Amino acid sequence: MTDWIEIGTLEDIPRLGSRVVRTTQGDIAVFRTAEDEVFALNDSCPHKGGPLSQGIVHGKRVTCPLHNWVLELSDGTAVAPDQGHTACFPVKVEDGIVRLSLQRQHT
Ligand code: FES
Repeated sequence: MTDWIEIGTLEDIPRLGSRVVRTTQGDIAVFRTAEDEVFALNDSCPHKGGPLSQGIVHGKRVTCPLHNWVLELSDGTAVAPDQGHTACFPVKVEDGIVRLSLQRQHT
């Protein structure tokens, strides 16, 4: 069974931005797209650990602020030609409330 942690409201997350949730799994960046979709990734770039939460969201991707790697928000994989991935966590929005699970979808 999935344990969901309530982390606040959708409005707490800036559109095309993110907020960081500190968890026992480390810092998780919760992103909000222009379409109000929400995704959660480990706040650490697979390249050199850059803070993805400070990256720019575009479409369903985020660009790392350090060296411009681009990662898919849906599963944390790096967009070619770069390779690698960061952990991705289930997140859902119900009635404007955002809930996060710490069960990694991809490790
Ligand atoms: S640390 Fe993210 S691109 Fe280098």
